[in-house]
Amino acid sequence: MINACIFDLDGVIVDTAKYHYLAWKELARGLSFDVTEKDNERLKGVSRMRSLEILLEIGKKDICEKTKLKYSDSKNKRYLEYILKMTPDEVLPGIIDFLNELISRDIKVALGSASKNAMTILNQIKLTDYFEVVIDGTKVSKAKPDPEVFLKGAEALGVKPKECIVFEDAEAGIEAALNGGFKCIGVGSPDVLGKADYVIHDFENITYNDILSKF
Ligand code: BG6
Ligand code: MG
Repeated sequence: MINACIFDLDGVIVDTAKYHYLAWKELARGLSFDVTEKDNERLKGVSRMRSLEILLEIGKKDICEKTKLKYSDSKNKRYLEYILKMTPDEVLPGIIDFLNELISRDIKVALGSASKNAMTILNQIKLTDYFEVVIDGTKVSKAKPDPEVFLKGAEALGVKPKECIVFEDAEAGIEAALNGGFKCIGVGSPDVLGKADYVIHDFENITYNDILSKF
């Protein structure tokens, strides 16, 4: 019996990866190296500090913890400039219909995101009211693939992991869901998300029955 759905935010509900990419690229340029879109794939789903560490590995830069904090703050300032311009038009296709269907069927809905900016983004795209529970990067101490974010979401909704479907676009997020005993739908390419129980390209024309039929 499925009683709840937990959604990742970045890459599932909105395409913020492009803004993360621009902000990281600007930081890298300031440090005299470049990052590619392929490099950016490695930054999806992981925390801000881990993303910075991956970026510094790519640029072969070895810096102290204090400077890392300075860089991650400066990247976030730039990222905020992008996300504060976001509008409800940026919600990915099919998401709102799918959320409305869940709510009309009394399926509980939570957000499970690594981002510390999740509430700002939800406000910008006017989706805050759809989520009974929001667990974001400010509420967890262990990054995906640790299942903490989803376990906290299920606990706050009052459901067991096996009663929940997690929707994720990142490999680390799929692993987090499976590690926590959740059912998991990948959103994106089966080449990257092959470990998920099933992969959809996006939510366009996807109904809840389509998803249920996969379990
Ligand atoms: C995840 C993104 O949702 O949030 C990552 O996929 C990002 O790319 C992480 O690094 C942390 O985001 P923020 O907004 O706290 O810097
Ligand atoms: Mg994501």
